[in-house]
Amino acid sequence: MDKLHLHPHQQMLSRSDRLRIKGHQPAVLWFTGLSGSGKSTIANLVEYQLNQIYLAHTYLLDGDTVRTGLNKDLTFSEADRHENIRRIGEVCKLFNQAGLLVLTAFISPLHADRDQIRALLPAGEFIEIFVDCPLRVCEQRDPKGLYQKARAGIITNFTGIDAAYEPPQHPEIHLFSAEKTPEQCTQDVIDYLCEKNIIHHSINPKQ
Ligand code: ADX
Repeated sequence: MDKLHLHPHQQMLSRSDRLRIKGHQPAVLWFTGLSGSGKSTIANLVEYQLNQIYLAHTYLLDGDTVRTGLNKDLTFSEADRHENIRRIGEVCKLFNQAGLLVLTAFISPLHADRDQIRALLPAGEFIEIFVDCPLRVCEQRDPKGLYQKARAGIITNFTGIDAAYEPPQHPEIHLFSAEKTPEQCTQDVIDYLCEKNIIHHSINPKQ
């Protein structure tokens, strides 16, 4: 910091000032899982309910969109995946300071990278959600035709084929997306958030 002569200005407004006007707690809902496991589908459904039913201030960061904008200079090498997740973590930290409920849907294959984001955030505000779907099922679904290309060697470093996926050991939420519908998985996430008092039934105008 000294070497770069940076002196961040002390802000008049604190994080708690920003949180005071929200009807929910801030958190990062970090969905992780193989391509095709259902991360984006479930994250979208959760975000929709959070906005429509719980009036929560949310923002969804998604792999394919962030990689066409903020991170369009990055590839799928191990170093670039690390940088992808690091930058997304910093964005999550800023949104967290602003008091939002952030949802992210990135493969984020490595423990170390996910743990780095956990360490950036206040205790209890990083909620790791493992969207657990067997490779066989993801490959059958192959919504983008990418597994077929990876098997044919047209795409290399493809997660689950020739690049590793390290499943979370102790995720806050474990979703079995091959056995449950996206709606059931969504309900599991909403139930967790209610149980932890991150969102509140009392402000639900539709109940
Ligand atoms: S991550 O590994 O760096 O976390 P991220 O979630 O941003 O991945 O991007 C994954 C999406 O990029 C996949 O859903 C898929 O559409 C696309 N993709 C393209 N090439 C690859 C690859 N080699 N491995 C995994 N996903 C890829």
